[in-house]
Amino acid sequence: MNSSLYQKLLKLPKVELHNHLEGGSMYPDLALKFAKRNGITLPFRDETSAKDFYSFTSLDQFIDILRTTVSTLNTAEDYADAAERQGVEAAKQNILYHELFVTYGLVSRRGVAWEAIVEGLEEGIKRNREKHGVHTAFICDLDRTLPEPTALEHVKLAERDREKAGIIGIGLDCQERGYPAIRLKSSFDYAKSTGFRLTAHAGEDGGPASVWDALRCGVERIEHGVQSYEDPTLMKHLAEHQILLTVCPISNIQLKVFPNMQNHSIPKLVEAGIPICVNSDDPPMFDCQLMDEIIAIEETFGFGEDKLVDMLRNAIKFSFMDTQLKETFLQNFEATLSEN
Ligand code: ADE
Ligand code: ZN
Repeated sequence: MNSSLYQKLLKLPKVELHNHLEGGSMYPDLALKFAKRNGITLPFRDETSAKDFYSFTSLDQFIDILRTTVSTLNTAEDYADAAERQGVEAAKQNILYHELFVTYGLVSRRGVAWEAIVEGLEEGIKRNREKHGVHTAFICDLDRTLPEPTALEHVKLAERDREKAGIIGIGLDCQERGYPAIRLKSSFDYAKSTGFRLTAHAGEDGGPASVWDALRCGVERIEHGVQSYEDPTLMKHLAEHQILLTVCPISNIQLKVFPNMQNHSIPKLVEAGIPICVNSDDPPMFDCQLMDEIIAIEETFGFGEDKLVDMLRNAIKFSFMDTQLKETFLQNFEATLSEN
């Protein structure tokens, strides 16, 4: 990507919709700090051995590694530090608003108290706003391997503490194959009845059927959804209903969803008129930041400025921000765009 386009995109006030609080903060230095203060041993001891450990063959194997690494997260302070690290990295790229997934199911089985998480999220929001100028909102993802009654309990906890912890929606993540979203439909129905916004990881490695399942649960956007291209009827549906896919290309390559960037479905999705935006998923585990994703897309597909800007604008348009904040963000985005 030429440097003037890079600088222009860097300068735009950006929004990121698909990034995980837990996996997205597991920078080796931070994970090792959490491990030390909680008396946990990690299978790596520095940057180099962490790089070897962060080497993936599939989504399922990635989630196993994620569960090991995330065992270092235990206290309110850990959660606040994790959220703040995300704020620091966002600010460097001029990402001024992000929606971070928090998956209680990753730690609840180990007995981490929900109250500690809430305290950490509240502190993280405050630090990011005051110290880094970043607006952080949280989406509570249900670990899709949970039994339905536990998933519903997690939605109710999120509902109870939604104001304090800045929780705006309910999502779904972890192992996709073998765990169709429809299993947890009653949790989604309940979440919707309380006014939560809804989303789900789907079509990352579960194919188009998994996306249909998520849509039947009432989600408003799809996280990943990159395998939708395998089903023309689904492609038509996503385009007709303007359902956003939050695409995370480098994650997809690392998890072997596609063999390489050239084979990624992005051009097919764009060509079909489906709105997409670009995201980094779990930056330290995939060794990428949002700006790297944009460079990778440009260098592989040569989309050019207008299409890249469309993707960045989509992130604002399809975010779960309230109407007034969204209006302000869109105005700032267009004003900065016309400045240079
Ligand atoms: N949790 C963190 N990253 C994830 C991904 N890419 N898919 C599903 N669950 C996740
Ligand atoms: Zn994800």
